[in-house]
Amino acid sequence: MSTPDRYLTVLDMSRGSGELRRVDPTKPILTAFDYAATRGDGAFEAMHIVGGVINKPERHLDRMARSLQHLGIIGPTKAQWTDLINDLAEQWPDDAEGVIKLVISRGQEGGPTAQPPTVYGTITPLDPDLKKQRRKGIDVISLTFGYPAAVREQSPWLLGGTKYLSYAVNMAAKRHASSQGADDVIFVSHDGNVLEGPNATVLWLTGSTLHTTPADTGILQGTTQEKIFDEAESVGLQTAITTATLEDLLEADAVWMSSSTRGVAAIKTLDGKTLGQSEERTTDLHRLSGLPEPKAKKDKKDKKKKR
Ligand SMILES: Cc1ncc(COP(=O)(O)O)c(C=O)c1O
Repeated sequence: MSTPDRYLTVLDMSRGSGELRRVDPTKPILTAFDYAATRGDGAFEAMHIVGGVINKPERHLDRMARSLQHLGIIGPTKAQWTDLINDLAEQWPDDAEGVIKLVISRGQEGGPTAQPPTVYGTITPLDPDLKKQRRKGIDVISLTFGYPAAVREQSPWLLGGTKYLSYAVNMAAKRHASSQGADDVIFVSHDGNVLEGPNATVLWLTGSTLHTTPADTGILQGTTQEKIFDEAESVGLQTAITTATLEDLLEADAVWMSSSTRGVAAIKTLDGKTLGQSEERTTDLHRLSGLPEPKAKKDKKDKKKKR
């Protein structure tokens, strides 16, 4: 399988109907004054595609609509977003896992007051490291988020529940984890509540109940978590929204992080302590997530024997 290219389509909102324009992805499309560049003021979504199937696009578009409402940006219609997604998907080969990213900013800084937002989409190959983490599990550290758990619900300017463009803090947390030899982070509120990862939701199992953290802490509602919870009953799991501490995760039967591109990754260790594991439930969650189940990689010796 060859590594597919990357593609870029602009949705030009300067005309009412929104015009799609395929652009060479190596060419610039933003001006120096775009709010995406000057303030990180906008929103994005990232969704998974393989075999021509886009995983849960409706949930992503619903969340995009919520993000834009929180930001006070009037974006494309659902039909215009869908045309953009389909235009990108058309260009993608069937045999590769890809990531469709939708990006919108408030438009140009300093321009006329009524101006269109900047909107575009890209499609790129899924990072092979993410596939490996889906297959093998991850080591995670906890980091403080700084705020008390209740503050974002009471403070709309902190943009809880919004997938805004300014992810510099999230990326810094991931780099910090990497510098400590870990794959990911669980953010913990100032008052000790488990929140979420920089780009993933936390899930854990006690008996036959699958838990996640409450949305009123200002976490981003995960579309993968929502899909898994909606279908959990089909594999005999109950679901619960639960306030938890790190102690609760250490005592759980298994803990995972879920996201649209990596899918479900079992957490092997948290702050260096080994967590409970459930291979059976990990397989269930892979299935419910809608992403391809990881295949065990044959080692080189096995491959040679078969030749
Ligand atoms: C902060 C944050 N939490 C959770 C998630 C998981 O959401 P989803 O499952 O929709 O990818 C993401 C996704 O990128 C995220 O950025």
